[in-house]
Amino acid sequence: MNILIIGSGAREHALAHAISTSPSFVKPISRLNCIGPTLNPGIRDICMKSDGTYKIGAITDNNAICSSALNSHIDLAVIGPEAALEAGIADTLRQVGIAVFGPDRDLARIETSKSFARTFFSRFANQYCPKFIVASQYHEAEKAVISMQPRCVIKVDGLAGGKGVLVANEHLNSLAETLQWCQTLFQQNSVPVVIEEKLYGQEFSLMTVTDGVFCVHLHAVQDHKRAYDGENGPNTGGMGSYTGENGRLPFLNQQDIDQAKKLNEQTIYELHNYFGKPYRGVLYGGFMIVSDGIRLVEYNARFGDPEVMNLMAICESDVLEMLYGAATGTLSDVNVTLSSKPSVCLYAVPDGYPNKSEKGHVISMGTLDSRVDCFYGSVDIDADKRLCTAGSRTLAMVATAETLEHARSLVLDNIAKVRGPLRYRTDIASKEALGSRIEQMKQLRRPLRVGVMGSTRGTDLRYVLEMIEAGRLHASIELVFSDRENAGIIELAKTHGIPTAIGVRHGKNLRYERERIATAAFENANVDLIILIGYMRIISEQMCTRWKGRLFNIHPSLLPDFAGAMDTDVHAMAIRRMKNTGISITGCTVHMVEPVVDHGAIVIQKMCHIDEHDTVESLKSKVQALEGEALVDTIRMFALSGGKDMVFNSAQPIPIERA
Ligand code: AMP
Ligand code: GLY
Repeated sequence: MNILIIGSGAREHALAHAISTSPSFVKPISRLNCIGPTLNPGIRDICMKSDGTYKIGAITDNNAICSSALNSHIDLAVIGPEAALEAGIADTLRQVGIAVFGPDRDLARIETSKSFARTFFSRFANQYCPKFIVASQYHEAEKAVISMQPRCVIKVDGLAGGKGVLVANEHLNSLAETLQWCQTLFQQNSVPVVIEEKLYGQEFSLMTVTDGVFCVHLHAVQDHKRAYDGENGPNTGGMGSYTGENGRLPFLNQQDIDQAKKLNEQTIYELHNYFGKPYRGVLYGGFMIVSDGIRLVEYNARFGDPEVMNLMAICESDVLEMLYGAATGTLSDVNVTLSSKPSVCLYAVPDGYPNKSEKGHVISMGTLDSRVDCFYGSVDIDADKRLCTAGSRTLAMVATAETLEHARSLVLDNIAKVRGPLRYRTDIASKEALGSRIEQMKQLRRPLRVGVMGSTRGTDLRYVLEMIEAGRLHASIELVFSDRENAGIIELAKTHGIPTAIGVRHGKNLRYERERIATAAFENANVDLIILIGYMRIISEQMCTRWKGRLFNIHPSLLPDFAGAMDTDVHAMAIRRMKNTGISITGCTVHMVEPVVDHGAIVIQKMCHIDEHDTVESLKSKVQALEGEALVDTIRMFALSGGKDMVFNSAQPIPIERA
C-alpha cells in the first residue's frame, strides 16, 4: 500500500511510526510518504526506509497535494492537522478516488466553526452543552455577557490556533474588559462570536475512530494546556498527556466515559444525516466533567496532539488497518485492541514557549531507553546538519508501563537527557496531581454545606429549604446562627432539625465575642459558605477576612440604592422615591460582605416594579420572593465553581438588571 501522511509535527510522527510498525505495513512492504510544512527528520527517516518520499510544502494547497498524491499512486491519505481539513484536502483527494482518513471540509466544521458546532450539537444534546449564544451583533453579545458575568467564555468562531478562547477571570478580568474584547471582535468583523457559560471541573478527551457508521472508541486521555506545573501560566497547544490504568482516568466514573462515547456516536450519526455523507476519520470530543456529569467543551475533527501519542503507544492492534478501515467504510471488519496499561507523554518546549519561543538553538538527544518513544515536533536541521529548535513544541516522549508512576518516571528520566534550552512539565500524571484532581471532583460533586446568620424571621431561608427539600438545590443548611435567642429564624431552623447557635447578649467586647462564637460554630459545622439573611449587625473586619469570598449578604434593594438602610425602611424609601422621581423599580442584591456596610462586590441583582398601589408590606413580600431566588442562585453559583468567580477579579460589577 502507498500511504501519504499530511502534516509534519509530533502527531504525524507518532502516526507515521504506528503505521510503519503495523503488521499490515511490514508484510507486504508498503511505502510511506509525507507532505508537511517543515522537515521532520523522524518522519523523513521512516519515509526513506520504506522507499517513500518526503516533500516540504503547504498542507492547504489542494492542487499540489492532489497531483503529488496521484503521481505517487497513493491508496490512503491520513490527514493530521485541522488546517488541511479546513482547506478541503480530504474532499479533493476523495474526488480523485483516494481513500482518506479525515472528514470532508463541511463535516470538519464541527471543529472549524464553533458557532456551527454548538448549534448543531445542542439540537440533540442540549443538556450536555453549557448555556451559550451565538452573537452576530454587538448588542447580542453585550446582553449575553451581562447575563452570564462573571462566568463567561468568549470564543472566536473559526480556527485560531488555541488563541481564540478567552475565559473570564483568567484572561478577562472585569466586565469592561470583557465587553471591550467583544467590541474588538466585532470591529475586526470576526463574527459571529460564541459566548458561553464557564464550566468548572476536569477536562478529558475522548476520541472515536469511525467510518461514519461503525465507531471505535479510544481510551480517555487528559491533556495539560497550561505552560507550567500546577496548571499555571498561559495556555499552550498541550504540554503533556496521560491515559490511566485500564483505560480509566481516576476522576471519571465509567458512567461518564460511557456518556462521552454515546455523545460522540450520536454526533457522528447526526453529522451523517445532516450532510448526507459519512464522517470518516476521528472525532475528538473535548469534555469536561462537572458537578453533575459531563459537558462538551469542543469537538475536533482530527487526532489530538499530544493525546494521539498516548493512544498510538497503547494500541496493540494494527493501526494501519484501523485507519484504512475508517477511510474505506470497512471499520467493522477491523479488530482494534488497546492495552490496559497506562501511558504518559511529555513535550519538551523551548524556553519562552508559548509567547516568546526561542528558535535555532542546537539540541542533542543522548541515548534513550528503548522503552520510550521520541517524536519530533517543531525542529529544524541547521547548516551543520545539527538538530535545532524551531519555535514551537520541540519534541515529545511517551512510554507505557505497568503503572502510571513507572511510565511517568521512564519519560522523565529520558526527557532529562535532552541537551539544549528546553523545559517540560514535571507534574503531569504525578500522584499529587491525580490526587488533587480526584479531590476537586469529590468537592464539586458533594452537596454544599451552607451556614446562615440572621436576626429576624428568616423568610428567605424558607424558600432555600424548600428548594433543597424538592431536590432542586444540591446543598444542605448545616447551621443557623443568631444574635437573638428568640429570633424567628431560630424557630424555623429547629422545625427543620437544623443545628443552631446563639451569640452572647451580655458582656464587654460584644461583637468580638459574638463573632468568635459564630465562627467557632461554623468551623465546627464545616460550612463552605455563610449567608446573612436579615442579620442586623455589622460584621467586623476580622470576620470578613476569616470568611473572605465565602460570606454573602442579601439586601432588599438594588445596591447602591438605599445602602445602609434596613428592612421596611428600604421599601418605604423606594416608594417615596417613586412618588418623587417616577423611578418605579426596586429589587434585591446579593453581595460579598465587607466591613463597610452594603459595599462588597455585587454577586447577583434581581429587579421588580413598584406599582402605584404598593404598600411597604406588599413591596416587601414582592422583593422577598426575589431574595429567595437570588440566594438559591448564589448557592448554585458557588456549588458549580467551588466558590470561584463569584465576581470579576477587578472592579465591582455594575448593577446589571438596570443596564
Ligand atoms: P476550545 O478551543 O473550545 O477547546 O477551548 C480551549 C480551551 O478553553 C478548552 O480546552 C478549555 O480549557 C477552555 N474552555 C473552552 N470553553 C470553556 C467553557 N465553557 N468553560 C470553561 N473553559 C472553557
Ligand atoms: N490536545 C489538544 C488538541 O489537540 O487540540
